[in-house]
Amino acid sequence: MYARFFFSGSRRKQAHEPSIEELTVKEIIASMLAEVREATDDLNSEEAVERFRLAYLSRKGRIAQLFEQLKTVPADERPLTGKALNELRQITQSLLDGAVEKLKQSAGSRDRLDLSLPGRTQPRGHMHIVSQTIEEISDIFRRMGFSVADGPEIETDHYNFEALNFPADHPARDMQDTFFITEDHLLRTHTTPVQVRLMERFRPPIRAIFPGKVYRNEVISARSHVQFHQIDGLFVDQGVTFADLKGTLVTFAKMYYGSSLRYRFRPSFFPFTEPSAEMDISCYLCNAKGCRVCKQTGWLEILGCGMVDPNVFRSVDVDPEEHSGYAFGIGIERTAMLRHAIDDIRLLFENDLRVNHQFN
Ligand code: DAH
Repeated sequence: MYARFFFSGSRRKQAHEPSIEELTVKEIIASMLAEVREATDDLNSEEAVERFRLAYLSRKGRIAQLFEQLKTVPADERPLTGKALNELRQITQSLLDGAVEKLKQSAGSRDRLDLSLPGRTQPRGHMHIVSQTIEEISDIFRRMGFSVADGPEIETDHYNFEALNFPADHPARDMQDTFFITEDHLLRTHTTPVQVRLMERFRPPIRAIFPGKVYRNEVISARSHVQFHQIDGLFVDQGVTFADLKGTLVTFAKMYYGSSLRYRFRPSFFPFTEPSAEMDISCYLCNAKGCRVCKQTGWLEILGCGMVDPNVFRSVDVDPEEHSGYAFGIGIERTAMLRHAIDDIRLLFENDLRVNHQFN
């Protein structure tokens, strides 16, 4: 005969269930085991697992309560009852462990198998607006038959100035504008020296553009920086005229800025070209009515150009009687700023992604 065993669980009572006082310990353990087994079927979330653990296995849980009752069991039945209770606890614990394990696995397999989960996207990179501008301009000239060349950023006085017909006392050689490295070496102040290198190396006809970085010892402001980019161009052959220069540059401007623009060439001066000019286009921001960007003039200056000075030809042993050519230089940052209405050149060098991603 088993002892009567009282327990105060919160187990749902079923209609046919006998009153607890009538149950033997063995029956109680058996019914608890059945209940525990049934309950483990519902352990499909972490919350349910925790609820189960609190209900059955915690210090105040149902099984602990049964252990409490052990002292009411007659001494001779206690060892067996205790053993049965221990078994109940172990089985309950291993059922719980199994449920936890299953939960982990199914979470894992959901991660592996749920093909409908959106992938983790990587942010996609793109070229900086300065590189994009170089590419776009280069592309237009490539289509007109120009090759792309480059030269060193550390130049000698000879290539940067002397061979380009800068008089010895020209203010551009001044320490204020040029970063000198040694007496004779400097950071190039323009990409124009590449034309000297090209003419030294190749006989005409030469038709090339040369994009790259240039440096000037200037105060950094919204308008100017110590490092920026230019694209220079050169065409040398027999019988090249100013009309060729205009035809090429007007074609470029219309392809880059839009075919409906108006343009003008203003006389200017550069030591390495004669005659020299600057090219303006009608301001497309205000439709030439006058705005902040065109400084109320209705015109935007987009490049410098001219016919190669005979002195430059002489410095590279090309006979100015036999050959002629034109050259031009375009500021990249200025071009990008005009085209995209950017009002501060520093924005192009700060690598602020909020700025850069606007030119994707
Ligand atoms: N090198 C000039 C500058 O830095 C730009 C320039 C003007 C380049 C006329 C040329 C040219 O090749 O023909 O401002």
